[in-house]
Amino acid sequence: MKDNKVGYAVVGLGVGKNHAKAAFNSKNADLVAVCDLIPEKLEQAEKDYPGVITYTDFSEMLKNPDIDCVSICVPSGLHAELACEALYAGKNVLVEKPVDITVENALRIEKARLETGLKAGVVHQNRYNPDMPLMHDAVVSGRIGKVLFGDFAVKWYRDQAYYDNGGWRGTWAMDGGGSLMNQAVHTVDLMQWLMNSEVESVTSQYAVYNHKIETEDFTASLIKFRSGAVATFISTTCAFPGLSTDIRVYGTNGSMEANQDKLKLWKFKDADEKEEEEMLAKYTGNAAAAALDPTLCLGHNYVVEDMISAVLEDRDPGILPMEAIKSVRIVNAVYESARTGKTIYFDQDLKAL
Ligand SMILES: NC(=O)c1ccc[n+]([C@@H]2O[C@H](COP(=O)([O-])OP(=O)(O)OC[C@H]3O[C@@H](n4cnc5c(N)ncnc54)[C@H](O)[C@@H]3O)[C@@H](O)[C@H]2O)c1
Repeated sequence: MKDNKVGYAVVGLGVGKNHAKAAFNSKNADLVAVCDLIPEKLEQAEKDYPGVITYTDFSEMLKNPDIDCVSICVPSGLHAELACEALYAGKNVLVEKPVDITVENALRIEKARLETGLKAGVVHQNRYNPDMPLMHDAVVSGRIGKVLFGDFAVKWYRDQAYYDNGGWRGTWAMDGGGSLMNQAVHTVDLMQWLMNSEVESVTSQYAVYNHKIETEDFTASLIKFRSGAVATFISTTCAFPGLSTDIRVYGTNGSMEANQDKLKLWKFKDADEKEEEEMLAKYTGNAAAAALDPTLCLGHNYVVEDMISAVLEDRDPGILPMEAIKSVRIVNAVYESARTGKTIYFDQDLKAL
């Protein structure tokens, strides 16, 4: 590491531009290199980040000894392949969501992390929206009482051009699904985190309502937790013009509702009169923008900075692969249930897989 700064690199310059910008602006990192297959994206990167080295070949980039950490921002079906290659080449990795599209592949990243002793983090930036830690605290502190049920819905919109761009979106091989694996996996992650229990079973339906894609643009699920709680979950990219990300948790002592990072309801048996009013005034969020355009997501700076600090301080980043695998497992169970018409039971603990 030069001058106690993390040498940073990014592969994949779609959302990867957010990673590159965050690393470029960080006082604790140098953006050393970027990699993409498309020359125009690399030319633009040279203008945006003076001095950056550009590559079209990922393996070549990994030979650069000045790189300490790589953000993996390629299509989801390539995450494990490139993350493992980077780890075994001696680089720490920050992997975009979903950690990979299959549990099996995602577990390969965890194996590589353990074998190399390097850092591997996963981007689920919505956990850092200001209202999410509040909701999580109300659950884990017991303030909400026993969690009884949850209600989650990702009602977003993507046009056909979105799916046609890049050729990988809406394919089973590279996107691993549609509205659920790509857009709503953030909220699946939040659901399993906020419900604060392992999943017991998943029962689902899916459809392709309004796009020419092979996967889905609508899913509806009933998810049972080992705690006895139940959640409903809807995902879609057909809700014109992009409506909401509903996150609702209800317990014996209270009810909480948010629309992405905007708190909508905050009622607790032990609250005084003013608490809800103050909370709703404070946590006003920016959900509508994020539902339309993922590049407006606010949390990439935070996640990249956390990864850089993790490397500098020799500590784990905020979200480890084993935590991110949970949402991938749930998403794949939704697809299996929808495909087979059966309820899928999580008989084995993740650690046993
Ligand atoms: N955290 C978030 O909010 C968020 C938002 C958008 C996308 N993502 C995730 O980021 C990943 C990329 O999505 P995107 O929307 O940026 O896609 P994209 O198609 O816009 O960009 C991907 C880029 O990767 C490049 N690429 C593909 N294979 C490569 C290879 N082998 N070597 C070098 N470059 C390669 C492509 O040329 C392309 O420029 C996906 O996994 C997606 O789920 C996360």
